[in-house]
Amino acid sequence: MSPSYLDEFQPPTRLLMGPGPTSVHPRVLQAMTAPLLGHLDPQFFRVMDDVCEMLRQVYHTSNFMTLPLSSTGTGAMEAACANVLEPGDTAIICRNGFFGDRLADIAGRCGADTFFVDSPWGKPADVEALADELKKHRQVKMVGMVHAETSTGSLTPLTEAIELAHQHDALMVVDAVTSLGSHDVRMDDWDIDVCYSASQKCLGAPPGLAPISLGQRAMEVINRRKTPVQSFYFNLKDLEAYWSDTRAYHHTSPISMTYALREALRMMMEEGIEERLNRHARTSAALRAGLEALGLKLLADPQYRLNPLTAALVPEGVEDAAVRKQLLDDYNIEIGGGLGELQGKVWRIGLMGDGAKESNVFAFLSALEMILPGQGYEVAYGSGLAAAQRALASFSPAGSNEEA
Ligand SMILES: Cc1ncc(COP(=O)(O)O)c(C=O)c1O
Repeated sequence: MSPSYLDEFQPPTRLLMGPGPTSVHPRVLQAMTAPLLGHLDPQFFRVMDDVCEMLRQVYHTSNFMTLPLSSTGTGAMEAACANVLEPGDTAIICRNGFFGDRLADIAGRCGADTFFVDSPWGKPADVEALADELKKHRQVKMVGMVHAETSTGSLTPLTEAIELAHQHDALMVVDAVTSLGSHDVRMDDWDIDVCYSASQKCLGAPPGLAPISLGQRAMEVINRRKTPVQSFYFNLKDLEAYWSDTRAYHHTSPISMTYALREALRMMMEEGIEERLNRHARTSAALRAGLEALGLKLLADPQYRLNPLTAALVPEGVEDAAVRKQLLDDYNIEIGGGLGELQGKVWRIGLMGDGAKESNVFAFLSALEMILPGQGYEVAYGSGLAAAQRALASFSPAGSNEEA
């Protein structure tokens, strides 16, 4: 028998409705099949410039330093901390989920003295507690906050926290891995200093690139560093040289991924950023209505719910992993399980980027209605679907979460 690696690999066509990666549009996959260019080819520079320009629009910024890092979101977390922090600096990290914990871990690994503002998982970050913590320190270099906690499905409004950080001369570093492209992220209006995201969620591309943007205040702090940035790969000053007119080689760019991100962003420009956010709001309203009609409880508080990611509590007596397995095996639908303290306790259902569509909500809810009775959890067939349909029919956009 010949080894399986000699067989062509033909993955099944899944509906990726977990916390990311999300299913991407065929146009984005197609873009990756274009002929390779070298990373110093003037034609590729055009692609790079297009990507940066569109990212500035998505971030609502004029920051020159706006570019996609060659990494997933975690690399951007490392880049943000490694460039801003020097050993002995003080960092305050708000932790209200798995990714807040990760940010705190990374800040500590950069040699910072890290302090934490903790909130229960499922709640937004606690801005009053942040104000108290800031008062305890003479000089804080960075406040870190996760805008959209993908582990819990909760969104933290940012503007008050940013103001507080600046009152204490600290830089505000924001994780927008799951919010960029689905919720408002207004780098300039809100005065965010450093903000990063990832390609595989609401931007609608495969995993592998992490757009980051830095404002002037952050760049000045970086320019005044006394110690070199410990990371060669994520040294933003060197990366700036490659992404600016100098075009100095730093590392080989992931060419095909950059094509994919360009196409995904082009699709967002065609759709319009506002309409993209509305689509996420509309489809998530339908999903939530459907889940609640089936008797499922949602983890996040109603006024702080994330649109691209809904965390629903696994009902008593229902086996988390068995349901997810059946969704995958019988319906080709992937959703996520819980992370950390929520392992086995929640399902994380994503509606991100191209995946944020009504047909996906219907496919998922009807599959769930078919599966749950086999787990001893009775549902009235069609009740989740009907609630989702009613939510869609009566949906009206509510405006920015910052106004909530
Ligand atoms: C809020 C948040 N931050 C950071 C990350 C890490 O990103 P990645 O898994 O792309 O490295 C994720 C991934 O899901 C995330 O949801």
